[in-house]
Amino acid sequence: MLGPIFQNFEAFVTDSLGEDAWEEVILRSELSEPDAAYSSLGMYPDSDLSALLNASVEISGLEASVLLERFGIFLLMRFSERFPAYFESSDGVISFLTSVDRHIHVQVRKLYPEAVTPSVLVQHPPDGPVIIAYSSERKLCALARGMIKGAIDYYNRSGSVEEVQCMHNGADQCLFELRLDS
Ligand code: HEM
Repeated sequence: MLGPIFQNFEAFVTDSLGEDAWEEVILRSELSEPDAAYSSLGMYPDSDLSALLNASVEISGLEASVLLERFGIFLLMRFSERFPAYFESSDGVISFLTSVDRHIHVQVRKLYPEAVTPSVLVQHPPDGPVIIAYSSERKLCALARGMIKGAIDYYNRSGSVEEVQCMHNGADQCLFELRLDS
């Protein structure tokens, strides 16, 4: 996974678990990178993120899925500060989420050919909730759920995101139903 994801995870841990938490998390994690010195241009093993997440679970007592979802909300907010144009070019949550697979992750892969982005597909049936299909070998659906929630917040909307099918239960993709309040 790309360095900025780790840098943002550090900021998330410090922000949500306290100033000293990151040092404690590093001490408890077996990492490829000594002292967790992640650079913006580096690429690091996914196992480092799992180790850092597991240590954060230990010190916070929160479930991994809860932490990942909160990290997703945090990450989306950081992306909106770092890459405002991606957000300003969409007129709302659904068009933004549609642009992730069609445009944003395509740009990410052009800039960083080693990056492996998930598939995030949005279907909008005329009668029924919007469906977001997520799939990735990393099975980080809790992170995806947080990012979808973060997008709802960014566009000043409220609503619900319910995972109705999950890769962790053997499905080939995770499905979220998104309902926005009017
Ligand atoms: C401006 C918005 C966004 C940017 C710049 C962005 C960028 C990225 C980058 C750089 C990665 C890491 C890829 C790698 O290291 O190999 C990533 C992964 C990911 N992105 Fe996005 N992303 C954005 C929006 C979203 C949204 C709205 C979702 C919601 C579904 C999403 C879902 C994910 C997930 C779940 C991953 C983790 C990797 C995986 O599941 O395999 N992203 N994204």
